[in-house]
Amino acid sequence: MPDTTRENGDSILLGRMDLTENLTLKNRVVMAPLTRCMADDDLVPTELMAAYYARRADAGLIVSEATIIRPDGQGYPNTPGIFNAAQVAGWRRVTDRVHGGGGVMFLQLWHVGRVSHPVFLGGESPVAPSAVALGGRMPRSDLPYGAPRALDIDEIPALVAAYSAAAANAMSAGFDGVEIHGANGYLIDQFLHRHTNRRTDGYGGSIEGMVRFALEVVDGVVDRVGRDRVGIRLSPGAYFNMEPHSDDPAVFGRLLGGLDDRRLAYVHLGIFDDGMTFDYLGGTAGAFLRRHYKGTLVGCGSYTPDRAARAIADGAFDLVAIGRPFIANADLIAKIERGEPLVGYDESMLKRLD
Ligand SMILES: Cc1cc2nc3c(=O)[nH]c(=O)nc-3n(C[C@H](O)[C@H](O)[C@H](O)COP(=O)(O)O)c2cc1C
Repeated sequence: MPDTTRENGDSILLGRMDLTENLTLKNRVVMAPLTRCMADDDLVPTELMAAYYARRADAGLIVSEATIIRPDGQGYPNTPGIFNAAQVAGWRRVTDRVHGGGGVMFLQLWHVGRVSHPVFLGGESPVAPSAVALGGRMPRSDLPYGAPRALDIDEIPALVAAYSAAAANAMSAGFDGVEIHGANGYLIDQFLHRHTNRRTDGYGGSIEGMVRFALEVVDGVVDRVGRDRVGIRLSPGAYFNMEPHSDDPAVFGRLLGGLDDRRLAYVHLGIFDDGMTFDYLGGTAGAFLRRHYKGTLVGCGSYTPDRAARAIADGAFDLVAIGRPFIANADLIAKIERGEPLVGYDESMLKRLD
């Protein structure tokens, strides 16, 4: 008997799809955002980065590595920015190369909030919803994370405006859209979880207050670039830089309802392994998103191409993002097409950008 599962699976994964009315993708494989810390010392993307992304232009959609929206959003060395003209010009080189290869690319908009350190901030403290320090030490430098400073309510409009200015810069740099990084315990996620948001003003407290910052950022970005050019990544399961709280499902349920009304390009799950279950979410984070969000959903988290195809066939997701295997296999799509085995990922691959 021929193995039709594999053929059917591959055709679902590799077939074209209309992401929005204006954007057709050549397949349902997303290259997940992957921080590589290889921008130059002015946080400008390099030629090497352009070549690295161009080699992966046959992904249906590339989401760039997380890119900082203003200087105090940085938490790791040599992560690219999108807040000045040199960075926009650097990214333009990347998008030109990706488009030259027939690719589609969104930029991921990032502010790390409390996941930073005064070494990146000219000696200042990181900003966050509340002064709740992250335990542990920073990767590479081994410095302990310090207590962040709670944002004053008067500072929030400028922060929201920095996201929309960065989104406008991304469009000037030739991106096809932007993905708001609301996942993985960074700034927006810090507003969404009670563990890190102890505010009692309009940006915390009630469920409405807990989602206000995220929705203001979405609305600000949509105003500048249009709803069909905007995705958002979320981690309803607290698994990284964050502790869970029994209110999390109510907060994320409310947020996802608000996002449904806004008809964005997509919502993207942020997690490392979507096999993980969360009691308070009633199962996996991916299934929680599907139950609460009606629009286009991008899955992620330890998916092989076969499992990704099955998840799409089962209706769990509309697209699936693949991260580490895309670092190990620049020719991932060609390998899926040919049914060839993939090279396994290992961390030593992070030292090179090939
Ligand atoms: C080296 C590395 C860098 C990452 N950088 C980002 C990032 O910049 N933004 C983000 O949202 N997720 C980031 N992630 C998470 C991935 O996007 C993805 O969710 C995770 O690797 C699970 O998918 P995978 O099992 O297919 O690798 C990173 C993961 C790795 C391994």
